[in-house]
Amino acid sequence: MKEIKKQTDTNRKRLIHLKDISYAYPGGMLVLNHMDLEFFRGDRLGLVAPNGSGKTTVFHIIMGLLKPLSGYIELFGSEKKEEKDFVDVRKRIGLLFQDSDDQLFCPTVLEDVAFGPLNLGKSREEALDISKKTLEFLGISEFENRITFKLSGGEKRLVALATILSMEPEILLLDEPTTGLDEKTRAILTKIIQETDISYMLISHNADFLYECTDNIFTIKDGRVINQGKMYRHSHDHIHTPSFLPDHGHGH
Ligand SMILES: Nc1ncnc2c1ncn2[C@@H]1O[C@H](COP(=O)(O)OP(=O)(O)OP(=O)(O)O)[C@@H](O)[C@H]1O
Ligand SMILES: [Mg+2]
Repeated sequence: MKEIKKQTDTNRKRLIHLKDISYAYPGGMLVLNHMDLEFFRGDRLGLVAPNGSGKTTVFHIIMGLLKPLSGYIELFGSEKKEEKDFVDVRKRIGLLFQDSDDQLFCPTVLEDVAFGPLNLGKSREEALDISKKTLEFLGISEFENRITFKLSGGEKRLVALATILSMEPEILLLDEPTTGLDEKTRAILTKIIQETDISYMLISHNADFLYECTDNIFTIKDGRVINQGKMYRHSHDHIHTPSFLPDHGHGH
C-alpha cells in the first residue's frame, strides 16, 4: 500500500537536486563528471559503487564541504552556491562521516551529542535532555560519561549516529553506517533506520543491510550517478559462521 502510494504520488517534494556536477580534487582527475541526482522526501536510497568511485565525494558536495568545479546544487527548493548558503543546510541534513573520528571531537559522549542541539540554539538543559533521550533511543545510555576517543570503533559509530540524530535533521546521509558493527548491533541499527521517518541516502557495501533498509539503489559509473532500481532477494550459497560462535547467522 505504502509502495503504491509512493509511486503514484506525483507531488513528492524534491529535497536534493544536483545537476551537471563535476568535481576533481586538487591536482587529481575528475571524480564526478557531469553528474545528476534527485532525492525526494520519503526516499530511502542506497548508493553502492566500488571503492574510490566518488560516493563520499557526493555526500560532501551536498553538505557544501567540497565545492564543485561546475554545476547546480538545489537543496530544500533553493540554489546553494556559497559557504553561507550551506550553514542552514548543515542544520537540516545530518551527515554520518565515513570515519567516526571526523565526527567526534568533544571530550565526553554527552557533550558530543549535545553539541549539535546547542549549536541549533537550544538551551543547555534542553540540549542535554535531547541528548540523553537520543542515547537512550540508541540503547547506549551507559556511554554518556565515557571519554569519546576511548570508545571502540563500533561504539564510536553509534555515538556518531547519536550526534546527528540529536539535531533532528530532515535528511540523513549515512556513509557506511554499519562499518565496525557486530551482527547484533547491526540488527539494532537496521531497526532504527527502518523505523525512522527521516528521508535518507546511505552508502553501504552490505547487501543484506541494503535490502532491509533501502527502496532504490544508485551506483556511480564514470563519474555519474545511475539509478539501478530495487534490490531483490534470490537464493544463493553463502558462508555461515560456525554455530558455536555467539551471534551467528543472519536470519535465513
Ligand atoms: N582529500 C582528497 N584528496 C585527493 N584525492 C581524494 C581525496 N579524497 C578522495 N580522493 C580521491 O577521489 C576519489 C573518490 O573518493 P571517494 O572518497 O569519494 O570514494 P568512495 O566511493 O567514497 O570510496 P570508498 O568506498 O573507498 O569510501 C578517489 O580516487 C580518491 O582517491
Ligand atoms: Mg567513501
